[in-house]
Amino acid sequence: MDAEPFKIKVIEPLRITTREERKRKLEEAGFNLFNLRSEDVYIDLLTDSGTGAMSDNQWAGMMLGDEAYAGSRNFSNLKSSVKEVLGYEHMVPTHQGRGAEQVLMPLLIKEGQYVLGNMHFDTTKAHIEIAKGRAVNFIHERAFDTSTYHPFKGNFDVKKMENFIKEKGLSQIAFIMITITCNSAGGQPVSMENIKTVSSLGEKYGVRVFIDGARFAENAYFIKVREEGYRNKEIPEIVKEMFGCVDGFTMSAKKNGLVNIGGLLGIREDQELFRNVQALLVPFEGFPTYGGLAGRDMEALARGLKEGVEEDYLAYRIEQVEYLGQKLREGGVPIQYPTGGHAVFVDAGKLLPHIPFDQFPGQVLANALYLEAGVRGVEIGSLLLGRDPESKEQLKSPLEFLRLTIPSRVYTYRHMDVIGKALIHIKEEGPNLKGLEITYEPEILRHFTARFKQINS
Ligand code: F0G
Repeated sequence: MDAEPFKIKVIEPLRITTREERKRKLEEAGFNLFNLRSEDVYIDLLTDSGTGAMSDNQWAGMMLGDEAYAGSRNFSNLKSSVKEVLGYEHMVPTHQGRGAEQVLMPLLIKEGQYVLGNMHFDTTKAHIEIAKGRAVNFIHERAFDTSTYHPFKGNFDVKKMENFIKEKGLSQIAFIMITITCNSAGGQPVSMENIKTVSSLGEKYGVRVFIDGARFAENAYFIKVREEGYRNKEIPEIVKEMFGCVDGFTMSAKKNGLVNIGGLLGIREDQELFRNVQALLVPFEGFPTYGGLAGRDMEALARGLKEGVEEDYLAYRIEQVEYLGQKLREGGVPIQYPTGGHAVFVDAGKLLPHIPFDQFPGQVLANALYLEAGVRGVEIGSLLLGRDPESKEQLKSPLEFLRLTIPSRVYTYRHMDVIGKALIHIKEEGPNLKGLEITYEPEILRHFTARFKQINS
């Protein structure tokens, strides 16, 4: 293990709370960690989205913001970075990933059409549905077997997807979206081979293929170290190869772009589609040379994109996540194995087998971890999945995860030790943990604001 490839120039103090305080905060929050104030959290692993630390070079760029409404110099810099890193000429900035999704979906989807993905992220699914499309997932089923190693658990089951296309007929298919890395399955990468097979399938049937590139750099790193033939290739070369075989991409730049806010939408060749993107961008996000971002934010992103593909950084990033995963495995805590790029996904279903899915084992574990050590993770399971829209029955997620999402360049290896130790300790008291019952939930996106009580029987 190498140490962090940076030194710390600015620090943000953390407040260490007592167990008694945390018990009270948890009750006040209705056992939902989204309701906590961040100052009551010691180590915040809710997300890696917009929570990373910028470099001195990025902060210096922030002072060079050109806040012109049109034709800002920072837009030109961003455009050159996107060309250099991703190989795309045609792109627009957006305020974040979902901004890009909201512009793209209505342009590609006709009512009732399917959008095929390995596993769509929630906002992607929501925007597909707002555009009156239907989101379907074709991730290979081995992604659901958390304990067995596979180097590319984000891969599509291409055969299954091809059968679906044949069965429904081409008129029912809008396009294919490859999410790299596949967040919902545990930050699991998609191999270059699989990306190419999906892209050829798209070509064969005349179906467009897009990338959701929120964690593109981490995916490229996994290809380099895990896929045959890529060891000696540079990360930027691999990135351009991935993006070169699809028709376009959406990107939340808040992850691998190493910025606190921002997104991108790129189109490789289709001029007409790009003109439509630019036109629709104006009412939704803003003029095509700022797309919802300040000039200074575009500058930070122009610089962050390049830093995010540096190999020393990526090696550190992936190894830090792996280090926490390894610690947990050694302590007998089941996780999605191997660890993904941005997070360790703890298999709460396996760790707390006495808690049924409708008492939310992932949420129970999240609460226990906060109480134990002030660490805030996030449930990715039946609570997030929600209810059947018609019958209102609670749906059962195939996996009950607690996601420990590691912000980029923020926490040290010593923080990883604290998280690991706390979870291993919780594992011992696991059988005593009680399930949760919802006392309040809104109709949509309930996990953000729902409230719970502990089931004491
Ligand atoms: N696509 C993927 C794969 C994502 O993980 C996210 C966001 C988005 C799109 C939407 O991007 O937030 O910039 O609008 N994921 C965050 C997370 C929220 O915590 O995983 P956004």
